[in-house]
Amino acid sequence: MIRDVLVYPNKRLRVKSKDVVDFNKELHCLLEDMKDTMYANEGIGLAAIQIGVDKNVLIINLTDEDGEQNHENLFEIINPVILEAEGSITYQEGCLSVPTVYEEIERKEKIKVRYYNRDGIMIEEELEGIMAIAFQHELDHLNGHLFIEKLSYLKRKKFEKEWKKKLKEGK
Ligand code: CO
Repeated sequence: MIRDVLVYPNKRLRVKSKDVVDFNKELHCLLEDMKDTMYANEGIGLAAIQIGVDKNVLIINLTDEDGEQNHENLFEIINPVILEAEGSITYQEGCLSVPTVYEEIERKEKIKVRYYNRDGIMIEEELEGIMAIAFQHELDHLNGHLFIEKLSYLKRKKFEKEWKKKLKEGK
């Protein structure tokens, strides 16, 4: 089921999510709703809190070189943690909770992560490139943070001004 995506400055986006304890049907329904919602909005990543659910669940489905989004490449990531991180990389990020805004954000280049799949199987792997960037972006959501918080003071001010205008105009 397609759910509404919370949009900045909705306060619920600042809530810190909690770990999933039961890897049950409720979790699987949440994952299905997240997938439906992400694809309907043409996103490449979504955190559960973006549809209002404060659980440590995120999904990522990157596009390939041709810009196609193969649904078989979907990552379902539960209770994620970053174990190690190195290097730095800058990439233009966007977010379904801050639609139409794209900004250059600096992240760790390579990360070693641990998470669980929908069946509660623990997975540890090393991620790099856009996958590492997306993982860090979505993990920030679970901690109640948005990518715009990483902007410089002046860029953030400019963003806030333009965003207020945009919301006022109802676009
Ligand atoms: Co986002």
